[in-house]
Amino acid sequence: MSVLLIAGSPSERSRSAALLDSVSQRLLLRGATIERLHIRDLSPQSLLLADTAHRTIAAAIDQVARARAIVVATPVYKAAYSGVLKVFLDLLPQTALKNKTVLPLATGGSPNHMLALDYALRPVLQSLSARHILPGVYATDSQVTLMPEGAHHIGAEVSARLDEAVATLFSEVARTPANAGFEPIAFSRVRCSV
Ligand SMILES: Cc1cc2nc3c(=O)[nH]c(=O)nc-3n(C[C@H](O)[C@H](O)[C@H](O)COP(=O)(O)O)c2cc1C
Repeated sequence: MSVLLIAGSPSERSRSAALLDSVSQRLLLRGATIERLHIRDLSPQSLLLADTAHRTIAAAIDQVARARAIVVATPVYKAAYSGVLKVFLDLLPQTALKNKTVLPLATGGSPNHMLALDYALRPVLQSLSARHILPGVYATDSQVTLMPEGAHHIGAEVSARLDEAVATLFSEVARTPANAGFEPIAFSRVRCSV
């Protein structure tokens, strides 16, 4: 299974990227093929000016196209997700997430905005035609400790939720063939309720 990990924080030392790293360790143990995309490494000018022909942007869009599953991590900014993640998602073709399973992750300063994944990010992922958006994992800053030399520590409760999320990601991808579309439904079986 090919999984693209998208880091959506503009910060170099990043708690949301720590969640992503923790997920990547779990994915590798299960034999997944991992690719990484740090949006902060893309050309800022090309991102902001929607220059999809730029080498780094074109390569990033191609990474999305090739992935079977995507794990996207963002900090909560102003009760939503990060601006850099938004400008990247805006560059993707309208059906960029078609047939892909997506696991969203977020960190925030407090639990107050834990629903930002659902009310802010989820509709955007849905608009890009994601097949299945899994329940997200949210952690507060106090649950993710950044340590010296790039290490991090994630609390037991969040670790357990990441275990569960990765297991769900695997079972969901295994359940659906890569290019499966929705089965056509006979008109006689269509029911409407008003
Ligand atoms: C510009 C900015 C806006 C933020 N807005 C919120 C917010 O609305 N709600 C919240 O819980 N935390 C907010 N935070 C805190 C971050 O979400 C939190 O520290 C997060 O873990 C940072 O993730 P990162 O280390 O991956 O960048 C904000 C931080 C910044 C820098």
